[in-house]
Amino acid sequence: MSSHKIVVGNWKMNKDYHQAIELVKHLTNLISERKPLNTTIVLSPNFLYIKDAIELVKDFECIKIGAQNCSHKSSGAYTGEVSAEMLSSMGVEFCIVGHSERREYFAETDSMILEKIILLLQNKIKPIYCCGEKLEERENDTFCSVIENQLNNSVLNLNANQIVNVVIAYEPVWAIGTGKTASAKQAGEMHQFIYECLIKKYGAETAEQVSILYGGSCNPKNAQELFSTKHINGGLIGGASLIAEDFYSILNS
Ligand code: 13P
Repeated sequence: MSSHKIVVGNWKMNKDYHQAIELVKHLTNLISERKPLNTTIVLSPNFLYIKDAIELVKDFECIKIGAQNCSHKSSGAYTGEVSAEMLSSMGVEFCIVGHSERREYFAETDSMILEKIILLLQNKIKPIYCCGEKLEERENDTFCSVIENQLNNSVLNLNANQIVNVVIAYEPVWAIGTGKTASAKQAGEMHQFIYECLIKKYGAETAEQVSILYGGSCNPKNAQELFSTKHINGGLIGGASLIAEDFYSILNS
């Protein structure tokens, strides 16, 4: 089996309840009218809207609902946390972990991220693991070792049966929400690098099965070139996933 095409909409902390429901309906209308290509679509609204979103997409085989985060603890006295088991019991199939915004604003460490990944896998949820370098790390040419460290401290600790259920997203921090996309060449080099890290640890047959997504100012104009680059198996979309027509256009790229 080779890596699968996946496009994820990360809505972050945007949209009130009514707007979020409208967005899901608008998208499902576009998809049923025009039919998408051979791609898994993951919508990641906030926790509160997940139940309704799952109900709205239940007749769409290609659309899955994802969470944006989960707790690194399995259960117990952790006020305000949402566990992987809770998400699983609601029908959530994917969960973003290690997003740079969580690393930066909520002090998430690689070891917490690995704990989350293991809990998600135990609960049959596919983690969407984010890695990416900061601007100064791109400029001082340390970006490959930064990514390698992030991978070594998290997903590369998994065994082969586990890693094939993980999606990796390369999101250079300098490209997130900035309008500054990595060029297809820059992104392609990093995807190749991540793929080689996977080969080194698991061999080619297993590495082939792991989808590697690009994220960071991806939009209807640049998606096609990015997605046709080798080892870019889809995208993790922020801003452009909040507009149904734009997101649909990215899906078709
Ligand atoms: P933007 O597409 O808004 O740059 O966000 C990317 C991102 O962080 C997706 O997780």
